[in-house]
Amino acid sequence: MQNRGDLNVLFVGDVVGHQGRRAVAGLLPGLQREFGIDFTIANCENAAGGFGVTKTVADELLSCGIDVLTSGNHIWDKREMVPFLDSMDMLLRPHNYPPGVPGRGCGVYRTGNDLKIGVINLQGRVFMRPIDCPFRVADMLLEQIQDAIVIVDIHAEATSEKIAMGWYLDGRVAAVVGSHTHVQTADECVLPGGAAYITDAGMTGSFDSVIGIEKEAIINRFLTGIPNRFDQAREDARLSGVVISIESKSRKAVGITRVIRPMETGSYR
Ligand code: FE2
Repeated sequence: MQNRGDLNVLFVGDVVGHQGRRAVAGLLPGLQREFGIDFTIANCENAAGGFGVTKTVADELLSCGIDVLTSGNHIWDKREMVPFLDSMDMLLRPHNYPPGVPGRGCGVYRTGNDLKIGVINLQGRVFMRPIDCPFRVADMLLEQIQDAIVIVDIHAEATSEKIAMGWYLDGRVAAVVGSHTHVQTADECVLPGGAAYITDAGMTGSFDSVIGIEKEAIINRFLTGIPNRFDQAREDARLSGVVISIESKSRKAVGITRVIRPMETGSYR
């Protein structure tokens, strides 16, 4: 990694279920030491049982050393979470839901060395339920937080929409990191305007699975077309994410490194 920046941000890819939380608890402190991490963000939308998040699970993740949790379309799955969205500053939901929806998708935080970090959570609209325009909402939010180092989580299905967001925000933010598809992409780069970019940071959870879910049930659904109950998978926990190295003075990225770390050795791939 070209570690020329003075600020290192770790973005942990979608934490899925118990195995994802186990990987965070077991691997995060070592990664933070190894890369000299100053600020940690994780997408938690599937952290409770593989679907949604609860207050208890969010608190558990924050206690592991995560500074801010982002989310996505599954934030609504556990209804008990919704009343906390207005009061939990460290938990974001995509900002481009319509006005009046509980919670927010943008926060400004301070690192230990007193740098100002803005985190923006957006959601795509391609192959997803249509909500407000994430591009125009990003413009509006960036007007409000002009003096912060900005990291964007674009939670979206389509690679094209995420790549377009990377180019659209390049020059105005330090990083655009994709989430939602649970498969880490190998297209990490620093765009010409200084935004670190990756289409998907990957999954933190069981890799002996179909994107974190027990594989037999998923295969059966593909074979039969009949909806059935999905359980979270239980083996081969790994932590996936990216480390973004930033030059705080210019508020631009100078490097981005992918990481996938297994909890156990001897993984099958
Ligand atoms: Fe999602």
